[in-house]
This record gives sequence, structure tokens and C-alpha cells, in this order.
Amino acid sequence: MTPYDDCWLRYDHITADDVRASYRRRCRHAYVSEKSPECSAIRDELRRALPELLGAKPHFWHHPPTTVDGFLAIGTPDDMAMIAESVPVDAVAELEDGGFLIRAVTWNGADCLVVTASTDRGLVYGTFHLLRLLQLREPIDELEIREEPTYANRLLNQWDTPFRRSVERGYGGESIFDWERLPDLRPRYEDYARLLASVGINGIVLNNVNTTKPPRESANDAVGAFEGWQLLESRRLEDLTGLASLFRRYGIRPYLSVNFAAPMLVGDLDTADPLDENVRDWWREKADDVYELVPDLGGFLIKADSEGQPGPYDYDRDHVDGANAIARALEPHDGRVWWRAFVYGSHEDRAVQAYDTFEPLDGEFSDTVTVQIKNGPIDFQPREPVSTLFGAMPETDLGLEIQLTQEYTGQGVHATYHLPLWKEVFEFETQADGEGTPVKSLLRGAGQGVAGVANVGEDDTWTGHYLSQANLYAFGRVAWNPDLSVETITEEWVRQTFGADEVVVETVTEILRDSWEACIDYETGGLGLVHMMHNGEEFLENHYYPSPAEWPGYHGASEDGIGVDRTERGSGYTTQYRDPIAERYESVETCPEEFLLFFHHLPWDYELDDGTTVVQRLYDNCFDGVDEVKRLRDRWRTLEGRIDERRFRHVAERFDEQVAQAERWRDVLASYFREYSGIPDERGRIRRD
Ligand code: GCU
Repeated sequence: MTPYDDCWLRYDHITADDVRASYRRRCRHAYVSEKSPECSAIRDELRRALPELLGAKPHFWHHPPTTVDGFLAIGTPDDMAMIAESVPVDAVAELEDGGFLIRAVTWNGADCLVVTASTDRGLVYGTFHLLRLLQLREPIDELEIREEPTYANRLLNQWDTPFRRSVERGYGGESIFDWERLPDLRPRYEDYARLLASVGINGIVLNNVNTTKPPRESANDAVGAFEGWQLLESRRLEDLTGLASLFRRYGIRPYLSVNFAAPMLVGDLDTADPLDENVRDWWREKADDVYELVPDLGGFLIKADSEGQPGPYDYDRDHVDGANAIARALEPHDGRVWWRAFVYGSHEDRAVQAYDTFEPLDGEFSDTVTVQIKNGPIDFQPREPVSTLFGAMPETDLGLEIQLTQEYTGQGVHATYHLPLWKEVFEFETQADGEGTPVKSLLRGAGQGVAGVANVGEDDTWTGHYLSQANLYAFGRVAWNPDLSVETITEEWVRQTFGADEVVVETVTEILRDSWEACIDYETGGLGLVHMMHNGEEFLENHYYPSPAEWPGYHGASEDGIGVDRTERGSGYTTQYRDPIAERYESVETCPEEFLLFFHHLPWDYELDDGTTVVQRLYDNCFDGVDEVKRLRDRWRTLEGRIDERRFRHVAERFDEQVAQAERWRDVLASYFREYSGIPDERGRIRRD
């Protein structure tokens, strides 16, 4: 037993005799290719999983067994004649990297299962997929599965600050990577790689996008410690080689966040001007060094000209100059630059900034640059409209950046499930190419994909809260296939994590499903307001929370009303969308209620469709949100005795705290609205009235 949780890879014993017998027949004996690190990881995983699931150790064969009733065969058609004879070889060859086939076949009179793919990484995913089916107790005797990842890049962005071992906006403990001890490897790294590979994640950016000191002081930032930019120093790179090999076994490519001014910080140049020949030479030589040590590094992630990080603007250059100069150095090594679009500029309304900066540059980025865009124009708020950049840069490779860590949705305490939020983003109709171009359709292609800001740390729970593991699981699954429904992904997670008791499955699924909307309500009032995270406490750990005095700057509260005018008459953000979306948001009549105050400044007593005033709706939502959290807490309490004590208690205690905090957030918000508007709550609920 490891001291930390197994998450969804629990492999609980199968108690139903018939199911177990069917699984045993096809999976107890295994014939697995031995050619690569990935295949050895597969064998290890079967050794872990099958004894638990089936109560029988797998028996590995060097040749297809002829003396048993059935067996599992895992390999590419080239590796094994038995596989080449059992599957359509051409169809396998056509699979995307990572894709796989799983088939129940009869071979030589034996009942077999074949897991095959065109690449070894695909075999890893195929194996984990099969193990998921076994964990879900799905029938396997008729299996005929063909899967391919929708997106080529499914990257996790760790915001770990090396050497301090802290995690910016992390709520799952200190960094899982013991940076000072590298290259020594801990067993936990392998377990982490297993979790990631089991949901199809194929890249991990090891360190925080802030590679010089973080923009704001946070609880665990020790002064004077090493900083992320130093990872490009040769001795630090050497330390990463073991970690890279470990992730390689699971098909995961490592990436590094690097500092734009590295030629000055790591090298001894006196400029980082991307058009300077010496700077370009420096990047080229550095890339050569890096790839000598870590040949399958995915590339560099860069936060430039944002929150104190240096960038091309320091030299009067633009983002194309900056990104392309570094990309050119990585090109010979098949590495990419992931360049973040989260920039600040001269605009008073930050929402318009990213589009204004990047849209004019469409078509100019090198083919090996991906522009990584946050889902919304502000900053991972509980709910934001989708960034206008999606659909506006058809000639540029794009990555969608979403946040797993609950920076703005209750940190490590609140149960807030982000999958419904992400699905809303994936499904958002951009009209880039007329009807039928949702965000999810714009991220296909070799240089595109999805990046998720990780929520993992050293805590026994990995994520600080058992239910937050669902955000990690769901990220991988939805990045693999954005068409999977919230219900499917959630139920998969719950069954694997908490077992097959239908009451548990139904209850936990419901809690997760409803948690996000509840959080939006008690945290923002639910009409599209942003950045109101002060919860009335002195100190909120590792979290940016503007005090109420700063709120009007974010949401435009004044005596006459609330909301920010982002229409044509205001900051013009609506005009960055294509019609009919622009029209829909532009008009107060057609703007969806959940974004009303994001786009419009309205009088406090403005009447909504049902006759309720804006301020009253804000009050109602705040109170409803808290009631909903209480309901979810009570639902969780009904699970006592149905799940293990440890996880039951942990979540129950967190829920009590969540309710208390939600009440405080609600009271701060409601009395704030009351104070500004001068209009009391019709139902007299405000405690500070
Ligand atoms: C937010 C977050 C920062 C982070 C930044 C980013 O502002 O609070 O911690 O560095 O986003 O995405 O770069």
C-alpha cells in the first residue's frame, strides 16, 4: 500500500463470479510485446491490476500460448504474427498516434483479446482503456473498439516552482517533484505518470509559467530561493533526464516553461532581443544541448510580457518575433513553442487585450508555434464567455488552456467540478466558419490541442480534496474526446473511484454535476460578474483576491448600477465576436442572463424577463447557491457507511467548511450589493442589513 491514494486506478476485486470468469478466460494469460519501454510499462500495469481485479496473477508468455482457453495479446501488428492475423492491419496502420484497437477474437480455437495500435504509446492507452472497462465491469466477450485521440496534444501544465517546491495556485500540497533530489526518482513519479497516461495525457510541462519571481506574494513563496528559469542551466537539465525517461515509458513528453530573457539569465548576453543574431545563436545552441540530454522534450512553454515576465515588448518587437525566434531553435528537434496569449497591455478593459494583440498576427507565427489561449478573456473565472480568439486565428495553431486547479472555485476546500464548465467552452459555437464551428472543432491538427493547469501536489489525496481528483480525470478524458458527455465521464470516474454501489454512483455523480453552478451563484451572484473572490476572511491561501474596494474596477459597480459595458459603446469586446454571437451579446434583450453583467452595465433595478430586478436576482442567486451547497453536503452525508471512512470523513469535513465559507462569501457579496444599490433584499435575508 502506498501512503497516498490510488485515485481511479484502484482495481477493486471483481466479486461477481460470472464476470470474473469471463475476464479471467481472456486476460489471465498474456502475450505482450517486449520491445520498448512502453511495453514494459504495460506489463507492469497488468502485474498490478490483474491480481487485484481477478485474484490471479497474469502469466506472461513469450509465444502465443496454445495450451490455454484464452489470452490477452498486446502489441503492434509488426511485433506479433498472432495480432497481424487477427486484426485488419491496414486499419491499424491508419490510426493516429495514440489510437488503438481492442478486439475480442478467436485465435487458434482460443478466446482472445487483442490490444493493438500503430505506436507503442497507443498500446499504453489501449491497455489502460481495457483496464477501465474491467474496472467498470463491462462485458468484454464481444469487444470491438477503435479509439483515436481527438487532439494531438493533451498537455498538463504544472505551475510548480522548482526548488521552492511550492505550487502557484496549488491546493494539493507542495510540488510533487522533489527538485533538489533529482535525478533521484521516487516511486510516486511513476504512479503519477500512470494516472496521467490512463486518461491519455501525453505531455507535461514540469514547471510554472512564471519562471522569475511570481507576480504576487503568496503564502508559500520563500524569498531568495532558486527560480524556474534556472532549469535551462546544464546541470539542472542533467537532473531532468531520469524523469524524462520515466515519463517516456508512459508516452508522456516533458516540456519546460522557459524565460524569454534566458539568454541573459542563463547565458551571459546583454540582450534577449529576438532579432539579435547572438540571441538566436544562443537559443539554437541551448536547444541542441537540451535535446542532447532530453531527446523527446516536447518543447518550451512561454509566458511573455505578462505579469512581470520579460518579453519581446522589452525590445519593441512583437509576439511573432519573440515566438518564432525560439521556435526556430527547436525545429530541428521536433520541438514546439507554446506561447501564451495571456498578456496585459494598454487597454482599460483586459477582456479586449488578447484579441487585440494576437488577431492581427494570425498567419505570421511559425508552424512550430502554438498560441495557448485561456478559455475566457479574463482569467479562469467561475464563468466567463469564451475568448474571442477562438475562431479568429485560422492560420495559427491554437491550444485551449483551462484550469484544473480551483483557483477561483473554492481552492482546496470546495467541491467544484469543472467538467461542465469545460464542456460549455468546447461546445461554444464560434461561427468561425458559419454554424458548425464550435471551439472543439478548431483544435484539431498536429500542432494544436488542450492544456490544463494541473491540480496535483504531494498531498495524500494528490489534489487536496478527494473530489478534485475528478477534475484531473475529466481533463484527460475530455481532451481525448470532447464529445464524451459529462454524464459518461463523471460516471466512469465515480465507479472506478468509489465502486459499483448504485446509490454511491448516483449520489456522487449528482454532487459533481451540480457543484459548479452552485459555486458560481454564491461566489459571483451568477450574472457574469468576475473577480469577486474575497470571502470575508483575512487570508485566503495561495489565491489572488482583490478586496471589495477593488471590485468596481472589475465589474463596474456604481450607485446607478452594476456590470461592465463591453458593447460597441463601451470597451467594444462584443465586436470581437462574429455575428450572430456579437449581436446576441450586444443587445441586452438577447444577451444570456448568465453573462448579462459581463457585457452590460445595468441599473440595479433593471427588470429581467421574469420581472425580477438585477439586484434581487443577485441576492437570490447568492442565497440559492448556499442552499444548493447545503443540499449537496446533505447528499454526501447519506453516503456514510457506504464508502470508506477515510474518504467519507475527509469530504464531509470539507463540505462543512465549504458551507461555512459559502455563507460568508454570500454575506459579503449580498451586503456589498445592498450597500451600493441602496435597495434591500425583498426577502430580508441579508445578515449585515
Ligand atoms: C492568474 C494566476 C497567476 C498566474 C496567471 C497566469 O493571474 O493568479 O498565478 O500566473 O494567472 O495564468 O499566468
